[in-house]
Amino acid sequence: MENKMEWWKQTSIYQIYPWSFQDSNGDGIGDLKGILRRLDEIQTLGVETIWFSPFYVSPGEDFGYDIADYTNIDPRFGTMADCEQLIREIHKRKMRVVLDMVMNHTSDKHPWFLESKSSTSNAKRDFYIWKKGTKKPPNNWISMVGKSGWNYDKGTEEYYYSNFLSFQPDLNYRNPRVKKTMFGVLDFWLKKGVDGFRLDIFNSIYKDESFRDNPFSLRFFPTPDNHDEAFFQKKQYNLNLPESFSFAKEVRKHISKYKQKPFLIGEVSGSDQVLKSFLGEKTDGLNLVFQFELIHFSYNADFFRKLLQKNEEIFPTPFTPTYVLGNHDQRRYIDRLGGDIRKAKLLVCFQFMARGVPIVYYGEEIGRKEGKLSNFFGKDPIAKLNRFVPLFLTKLLGIYINRDNCRLPMLWDDSQNAGFTNGKPWLPIETVQASDTVLGQKNDPNSLWKHYQTMFHIRKDFDVVRVGSLEIIHTEEPAILSFERRFKNKRLCVFLNFGKNQKDLNVDMKGKKIYAFGGADWDGKMMHLPEHSGIIIDLQFAKSSNK
Ligand code: NOJ
Repeated sequence: MENKMEWWKQTSIYQIYPWSFQDSNGDGIGDLKGILRRLDEIQTLGVETIWFSPFYVSPGEDFGYDIADYTNIDPRFGTMADCEQLIREIHKRKMRVVLDMVMNHTSDKHPWFLESKSSTSNAKRDFYIWKKGTKKPPNNWISMVGKSGWNYDKGTEEYYYSNFLSFQPDLNYRNPRVKKTMFGVLDFWLKKGVDGFRLDIFNSIYKDESFRDNPFSLRFFPTPDNHDEAFFQKKQYNLNLPESFSFAKEVRKHISKYKQKPFLIGEVSGSDQVLKSFLGEKTDGLNLVFQFELIHFSYNADFFRKLLQKNEEIFPTPFTPTYVLGNHDQRRYIDRLGGDIRKAKLLVCFQFMARGVPIVYYGEEIGRKEGKLSNFFGKDPIAKLNRFVPLFLTKLLGIYINRDNCRLPMLWDDSQNAGFTNGKPWLPIETVQASDTVLGQKNDPNSLWKHYQTMFHIRKDFDVVRVGSLEIIHTEEPAILSFERRFKNKRLCVFLNFGKNQKDLNVDMKGKKIYAFGGADWDGKMMHLPEHSGIIIDLQFAKSSNK
């Protein structure tokens, strides 16, 4: 890397959901040895940083987001030795490792909680948030899943608080021992060489010290980027507290002493101002936060233009935007495009060429389809909570309930169970054609996988994409999104046609086409952009080229 910008601002992230990536022992659940077997594939794709959803010891009621031991590997995924080998092998391939860290809550089966619950005088009682009260919850706080966050414990006749599901009790960060213990957990993994953490619902870490009631709000449905007003409540006192913003800085400071220069990426939600508060005014908070606007994109140039404009205005350098099309909690983006690969290529080109960090969820690179599993039989605890809501209604309302549907196993080839397992997969696998799989797409120059591979590699090869500034280019055609990236004497231009018709533009400049898709072309003067096509041009106006 010949520039001075921090590595994590320049990276690309690939999320692996361990349950569904690759099984190696035939139990139908993915595991660490399976992931190890696929590392070369991931490297060939061009991935730079791998983020793993949790594989710590867990009862698995929320598939690992309910941790019962932060410093051991759940036997269903393997052993600590497997994990250490995985970290080593990732580093050997010049990639980096990010672990998911659920600091907000533990499982209710965690020994800390079992102790805490055993009596009001137990030494671990204050590890969690307990309040007196019998007939009525202590206040009106609604959790992120839409019900009272207070859970009554008959044994000690008090309520404990959970901002997500009731089997995920929230830790009490006002207790210095909790902080110290959790910093110890971070140290444990940093000493094993991990390069960063994805912080689960970090906006929920602190709650109001005096437990004031939340005010009323007219909004009912939360969105991926706004949980702070939902279920008729403005969550002023149980989400996004100023203490959580300061804590972000503390965690950053704590991890910064490690030589691998690790980073933090926070799952937070709220207004741009809230996101900025987590990042810190002096960019001294969380290194990155997920920005979820692309989760509910509108497929038109204007949407993407406005998003770029917004990010340049609100998150200018040294802030680094992130671009997320999906994750293990959201409907797969390909579904929202009606499975149209041409449109997917446009979106991905936008995601990788914009200024910021692109984050890819496993399977997006092959356009892995969304499942059609009903809410009623869902394994996902959110589906269990909303069993009787029919799938079509959730689609109609634009809400997402059964997350099993975006967590279906990876499709590697067209052998039995798509090469994922020799056993019975934990979630069903549909019948697949070779062209739905990694193997099939690797051999097809026009596949989505190849497109992703090219995108990852353009980012690697062109530092102007990783570190350059961004400027929107105004063309006569509103359906065309065009922007330019600049770094020192290097310039790179992107044209994307979101319109329904071919557009021909007069683009007379000196440069070299480095990639085109969807039939786009340019002869140095005229540019032809069929619908859903795009082109990337390296502008060689200066003596040296970009490579
Ligand atoms: C957010 C995670 O992404 C989700 O999968 C999980 O269920 C909740 N946090 C609770 O940890």
